[in-house]
Amino acid sequence: MSNTTKTMALVTGGSRGIGAAISETLGKKGFHVLVNYVSNEAKAQEVVKKITDAGGSAEAMKFDVSNEEQIVKAMEEIAKKGMPLEVLVNNAGISEDSLILRMKKESLDRTLQTNLVSAILLSREAVKLMMKNRNGSIIQISSVVGEMGNAGQVAYAAAKAGMLGLTKSLAKEVASRKVRVNAVTPGYIETDMTNELNETQKNAISQNIPLGCLGSANDVAQLVSFLAGPESKYITGQIIGVNGGLYI
Ligand SMILES: NC(=O)c1ccc[n+]([C@@H]2O[C@H](COP(=O)([O-])OP(=O)(O)OC[C@H]3O[C@@H](n4cnc5c(N)ncnc54)[C@H](OP(=O)(O)O)[C@@H]3O)[C@@H](O)[C@H]2O)c1
Repeated sequence: MSNTTKTMALVTGGSRGIGAAISETLGKKGFHVLVNYVSNEAKAQEVVKKITDAGGSAEAMKFDVSNEEQIVKAMEEIAKKGMPLEVLVNNAGISEDSLILRMKKESLDRTLQTNLVSAILLSREAVKLMMKNRNGSIIQISSVVGEMGNAGQVAYAAAKAGMLGLTKSLAKEVASRKVRVNAVTPGYIETDMTNELNETQKNAISQNIPLGCLGSANDVAQLVSFLAGPESKYITGQIIGVNGGLYI
């Protein structure tokens, strides 16, 4: 972040899991963190409290990333806060697994809307602010599944792979205005999303991971923190894995 003014970082889905760890890390880095959530206000407030208890500043912000009107309204509010928006982390996501033969159109729409269309629309609104400031870092939280595919996750994988195309194209569009765009592809990370797996499934998965275990939300947050700040000022359009070697 810049040395003079406090700048803001918006983390979508900041109330739980990977997003909560990212929010806390960016809070420690000195950003005013906007912790977005859609339903879980108590969890979002817990994250805000952890950041403020650690001496940082943050606030919770409710909006549904799958709703364009709510995105635009939220960005208008952000623009009025009197601090530059320096970082956007498109982290909010859902996974609704099913084999393609059983896939319902509503589930497909929801998956693409929440994971991919949201990231494109939020990026569109954020670059309007960041281009004016000639400074910004957008980080897309994609998935290893978008790189290597996974049976039963056609819609999720398509959305996550779409985020990689978004990253590369947008990086080319906005680099001249000093806005950087990168993607992080987590492997299997211990969160509510992977808690749906039982111990037997987790052990089976771990056997295929060269580093031999699932990752933590903090493992992802450390990379996001690096990509958010000036340490990574010459890095844009890149896809970086945090996957224990699962996909090399
Ligand atoms: N966990 C993994 O192994 C893994 C691996 C690869 C990639 N990822 C990706 O990493 C990201 C975070 O995953 P996670 O495991 O931390 O997920 P999680 O624990 O299930 O948390 C999901 C977060 O997204 C928010 N969210 C969901 N739908 C939303 C919406 N429509 N609008 C706004 N916020 C919404 C939730 O808010 P509420 O609390 O209000 O519900 C929550 O904060 C996702 O994009 C996921 O695809 C995860």
